[in-house]
Amino acid sequence: FIGGNKMNLKDYIASIPDYPSKGIVFRDISPLMADGEAYRAATKQIVDYAQEKEIDMVVGPEARGFIVGCPVAFELGVGFAPVRKPGKLPRKTISVSYDLEYGSDTLTLHEDAIKPGQKVLICDDLLATGGTIKATIELVEKLGGVVVGCAFLIELQDLHGRDKIEGYDMLTLMEY
Ligand code: PRP
Ligand code: ADE
Repeated sequence: FIGGNKMNLKDYIASIPDYPSKGIVFRDISPLMADGEAYRAATKQIVDYAQEKEIDMVVGPEARGFIVGCPVAFELGVGFAPVRKPGKLPRKTISVSYDLEYGSDTLTLHEDAIKPGQKVLICDDLLATGGTIKATIELVEKLGGVVVGCAFLIELQDLHGRDKIEGYDMLTLMEY
């Protein structure tokens, strides 16, 4: 791997005020993905974190969790299982619903995606309220998987998502 820890990854995050609605600052990872060296450096930091954990599978929620999780799985030499919105996975699935500020959302996972006892690393681009990661952990655990780590590029600290996953090992590369 080139790059490594010398890069300031925050230089590759675009902050867009009032997107997608007033009062939200959107943290956009696409400049990071667009720069081969920055993308590799971020991936390498997560791979280094995962290395001693003897991971069997990486799991990531759509869509940006794929962008972060797939290169990590590839580099670790393990598989990747996608967590998706309802109606997107073609075979038998399990699902978990979780509350949003208004209403609720559901995430699904193929029921054979994880074998009981497998060690799982969950990857996503960003931790906000923690609803997505909590639902993803529940899906993995329903199948008997053991969540040994959760890795994010970005943590939005004001939203206290970390409190929702107390007790789980966690890596974040950038905090806002
Ligand atoms: C974003 C982000 C995380 C989630 C974090 O995904 O990629 O998955 O929100 O928010 P939370 O901690 O409050 O759950 P989004 O639902 O916008 O979907 P996308 O990745 O398909 O853009
Ligand atoms: N997902 C939830 N909150 C977000 C934010 N502020 N920027 C980018 N993605 C998000």
